Amino acid sequence: MSTSPLADLPHETARLLEEIAALASLEQLRDIEPSILGKRSVLSSLQKSLGVLAPEDRRDAGAQLQGARRVVEAAFEARRSDLAALARAALLESDRLELGDVVVNAVRWPASVGHPSLVAVTQRELEDVFVAMGFTVSEGPEVESDWYNFEALNIPPAHPARGMWDTFYVELGEPETVVLRTHTSPTQVHLKEAAALHGSLPIHAVMPGRCFRRDTPDARHLATFHQIEGLVVDRGIAFSDLAGVIETFTRAYFGPDIESRLRPAFFPFTEPSAEFEVTCTICRGAGCRTCSQTGWIELGGCGMLDPAVLDAVGIDGDEWSGFAFGFGIDRCAQMRHQIADMRALIDNDTRFLRQFS
Ligand code: DAH
Repeated sequence: MSTSPLADLPHETARLLEEIAALASLEQLRDIEPSILGKRSVLSSLQKSLGVLAPEDRRDAGAQLQGARRVVEAAFEARRSDLAALARAALLESDRLELGDVVVNAVRWPASVGHPSLVAVTQRELEDVFVAMGFTVSEGPEVESDWYNFEALNIPPAHPARGMWDTFYVELGEPETVVLRTHTSPTQVHLKEAAALHGSLPIHAVMPGRCFRRDTPDARHLATFHQIEGLVVDRGIAFSDLAGVIETFTRAYFGPDIESRLRPAFFPFTEPSAEFEVTCTICRGAGCRTCSQTGWIELGGCGMLDPAVLDAVGIDGDEWSGFAFGFGIDRCAQMRHQIADMRALIDNDTRFLRQFS
């Protein structure tokens, strides 16, 4: 009697199951699939060999072989899904992002786009008031030579009046010859110089801009602040013209319930000089911390042009006269909007800033 073709089936089945269990990747599984389940596989050649059996034996052997094939197929599919799961896990692991790999876009939509600062808005409003009064607008450099910032304004080197401005010096050239401008007054010098050169007098101009002083910030002062300078050079200008401009400006900008006053003062570039003050809007004149209990806030200075500052740029003081003024833009914003402490302007607290959008 010949040996049954399926004599080796249990052994072959066990070997196939072992081989399947040893598969380490989906690629290996794909490569080996024809030799385990394909036409040239052991199971298929056993199938073919059943042809030698008698029909009644063939049915039993066929069923036996089918059973073995189902076991092998099931093991193969189970291994396929295990390996697929492992591959997915490996992919996830390699794709994992560490904290810091991702920048979260935290901008809410619609994104807020910001707005000009209160100081910029105030500057524009002040310019508008003066333009309506017939002034032009000019700007000058923030870094100036000693001559523009001091000397041409009748403040010679080592003059005691220099103590009025705590100056930041720029390390450029000879020591203490280049400064961050301490006021916008040097821009008057540029304008007068250009007008003298081009014969383009008279001048009616305002000059806004940023200024710098070695000051400790407090409720009324910032080390970086803004001024607007005014300059009129014309024929037959009197102090009453200056007083009229200051008064017209105050009413136009602050409204009828804010009073202004001029008090005698000293500035080297004007004679006579005055300080320009307005009612403190924080306490309405009653006295508070912001106005140091005086009820008044000093906005700036003004006066009739000293002939020496005309002479410095070659303008004939017998023919031309004029006045000048300079006051704080940040101070104006502070009084107009009742900001008790000016440092709020530079704190970058958006709850404060948003109120002026
Ligand atoms: N420049 C002066 C300051 O910052 C203010 C000032 C006073 C400007 C009198 C003027 C003026 O033009 O005439 O302290």
